Amino acid sequence: MAVVGGDGIGPEVVAEALKVVAAAGVTLDTTAFELGAAHYLRTGEVLEDALLSELAGFDAILLGAVGPPIGSSAVPSGLLERGLLLRLRFELDLYVNLRPYNGAPGSIAAGCDFAVVRENTEGPYAGEGGVLRRGTAHEVATQGSVNTRHGVERCIAFAFELAAARRQKVTLVHKTNVLTYAGDLWRRCFEEVAASHPGIETDYQHVDAACIYLVERPDSYDVIVTDNLFGDILTDLAGALSGGIGLAASANLNPARTGPSLFEPVHGAAHDIAGTGKANPLAAIRSAAMMLAHLGEEKAARRVTEAVLTEQTAMAASTRKWSTASVGDAVAGRL
Ligand code: IPM
Ligand code: MN
Repeated sequence: MAVVGGDGIGPEVVAEALKVVAAAGVTLDTTAFELGAAHYLRTGEVLEDALLSELAGFDAILLGAVGPPIGSSAVPSGLLERGLLLRLRFELDLYVNLRPYNGAPGSIAAGCDFAVVRENTEGPYAGEGGVLRRGTAHEVATQGSVNTRHGVERCIAFAFELAAARRQKVTLVHKTNVLTYAGDLWRRCFEEVAASHPGIETDYQHVDAACIYLVERPDSYDVIVTDNLFGDILTDLAGALSGGIGLAASANLNPARTGPSLFEPVHGAAHDIAGTGKANPLAAIRSAAMMLAHLGEEKAARRVTEAVLTEQTAMAASTRKWSTASVGDAVAGRL
C-alpha cells in the first residue's frame, strides 16, 4: 500500500493508524509518498503524471491530510483540492465516498449508527462550467452539475448492497423539487435499483429537510445515499453531530477494483495543532480499518473498528488528558 502522510497533522495521525494495524496482526508492505502543500512548495508540482501512474499500481492508499496553513498564500486556493484530491478521485475512479458515523457519548447522535454513501466523481465537482467577461460588470459564471446514469446507478447500487449487510434501509437525499433534471435521474435510478432489492426499506428526503431530521432524529437512518455536493455538506453535519470531525473516517472506494481505493480521515491538515499531540487519530485509525476490510482483512478490520468505538466511548467518559500517541497506544492496547 501507498502511505501519504501529507501536511500538518496528517503524518501524526497516519503513524497511529499504522501502529494500530500492526497491533491487529496485519503486516502491510508500505511505500511512503510525499504529496500535498509541502510537496508543491518543494517541487512546484501538485501531482506528477508519473506519480499518479505509480499510485495506480498499489492495492490501497492511506492519506493523512493535505493543505497549507489557513491564510497562507503560498498555495493558491483550490489547487490541491482540484489538482490532487479530486484528481485522485476522478482518475482512480473512486466513485463511492463511504463515511460511517457512530455517535459518541454526549454527542447529538449518541448511540446512532449510520453511513453516508456520497457519489464521488460527478455532480458540481466534475469541473463543468466556465466564465465569460471575467472582472466586468457583465461577468457570467456557470458551474453545472454532471449526473450520468452510469455514475448515479453504480453509486446507488453500492448503497443498497451496503444496506443489505446492515439494517436494510436506504434514504435517498436530493432536491428533486428544484433540481428537476438531476433529481429526476437520481429518483428513477433509485426506484429501479430499489425494485431489484425488495427486502430493503426506502425513503426519500429533500436535502434541506434531511438537515433537520439528521439533527432531530439521527437514529432514523441506516444508509444515506446522495450526490457529491450534498454528500460533502451532509457528512460534515453528520461528523459534528456524532462527536466531531476528529472521529470522521472515510473510504474513497473503487468498488469495481480496477485500481486502488483511497482511505483518509475527513479532517484537514490542522497546522495550528500540528506537532502539539492534540490531533485525534481515531478518524485515521478507523479509515485504516476500512482499508483492511477492503483488502480482505475482514476480521482485523472488525477488531480495529470495535477498538476505536470502545476507545471513543472510554475517552468521552474520562477526564484524562489524551495525546495523539496515547490514543493510538490505547487502541493498540485493546487489540
Ligand atoms: C472532503 C473535503 C474535500 C471535498 C475537499 C478538500 C476537496 O471537503 O473530503 O469532504 O469537498 O470533497
Ligand atoms: Mn468536505
